[in-house]
Amino acid sequence: MDFFNSLLNFIVPPASMVMLAFSWPTLSFIHGLEWLFRSLSKENMEDKVVLITGASSAIGEQIAYEYAKKKANLVLVARRDHRLRGIRENARLLGAKTVLIMAADVVKEDECRRFVGDTISYFGHLDHLVNTASLGHTFYFDEAHDTSVFPHLMDINFWGNVYPTCVSLPYLKQSQGRIVVNASVESWMPMPRMSLYAAAKAAVISFYESLRFEVKDEVGITIATHGWIGSEMSTGQFMLEEGSEMQWKAEREAPSTGSHVEEFAKMIVAGACRGDSYVKYPSWYDTFLLYRVFSPDVLSWTFRLLFASHGTRKLSHTGTSQPLLEGPPPRKLLTAPPTAVQYQQRG
Ligand SMILES: NC(=O)c1ccc[n+]([C@@H]2O[C@H](COP(=O)([O-])OP(=O)(O)OC[C@H]3O[C@@H](n4cnc5c(N)ncnc54)[C@H](OP(=O)(O)O)[C@@H]3O)[C@@H](O)[C@H]2O)c1
Repeated sequence: MDFFNSLLNFIVPPASMVMLAFSWPTLSFIHGLEWLFRSLSKENMEDKVVLITGASSAIGEQIAYEYAKKKANLVLVARRDHRLRGIRENARLLGAKTVLIMAADVVKEDECRRFVGDTISYFGHLDHLVNTASLGHTFYFDEAHDTSVFPHLMDINFWGNVYPTCVSLPYLKQSQGRIVVNASVESWMPMPRMSLYAAAKAAVISFYESLRFEVKDEVGITIATHGWIGSEMSTGQFMLEEGSEMQWKAEREAPSTGSHVEEFAKMIVAGACRGDSYVKYPSWYDTFLLYRVFSPDVLSWTFRLLFASHGTRKLSHTGTSQPLLEGPPPRKLLTAPPTAVQYQQRG
């Protein structure tokens, strides 16, 4: 048996590469035709109901505006309802029919049941669930002194996807709806200062790939994987609910818009309406997957060269030399989301 597997280890990878090289043009042509067909028959979102978690900033906020332009009904979920209020106004101006906002924590199953239940009571159905809630970090694992933050990172980034999905699934089956997931290239591409975030994103992808098989054609799943596109996510945010107390890092209130964020939100919503299984930005990152499988050393050397300098460590925003939860930093004045007029001006 060992001999058999050793033989296959030797034969199958090069044979597969040769087969892939020959079939690649045909497969690309077929995918192109499929893409064209799906583009012509893409879902009309007018009057459909879209529930977006993590809608209070950056990608979630922009996704809300994209669905608003398609005249969908929106349910916006996040913990900061003061931000959701501004986003609701913008979404209405952009064309959303009805916009409900619900302050909730996606890590708490009962709160997920509440906001999904309220959505069904109000609209009677649910068509798209967009999971955007997440928590990033930028600390080196060996420099994190307070391990109590670790479960929170996993909770928000993993269970914060699973609970809303679990509660919404029966309604999405009824409507033959869709789940849109925000993962990240860090799930398979190693990056320093993102160990726990990357692990949670890898778990998210595995979960939804399995679910895709289970729900088959009843519910579509679009997995969006992207690299750094710039938002408060990537600036070392940290926010945690401690009783009624919210703590956050000053850099959390960085501008939540930017051409990449808006562009990526457009791509996600277009992909979801087209029924795409994956939305990737930038897609050339996929090339690294080949290296990961066939020559992981090359990938490892490249990343060491790119990230290994000692000076990089000084860029870490969170959890470097002090406990992560040490004393709440002064709360910054909140920046209101830009108005719909500003978005329209940007085109
Ligand atoms: N930005 C990037 O460069 C980048 C790169 C790769 C992948 N991604 C992925 O793209 C998605 C969106 O990223 P982003 O840049 O838009 O992040 P973000 O600006 O930090 O947004 C995260 C959202 O999640 C919400 N949230 C966090 N914890 C929550 C909780 N417990 N309950 C409910 N809502 C919660 C936040 O709202 P409240 O704080 O108001 O609750 C916020 O609206 C994430 O899944 C992220 O992993 C982003």
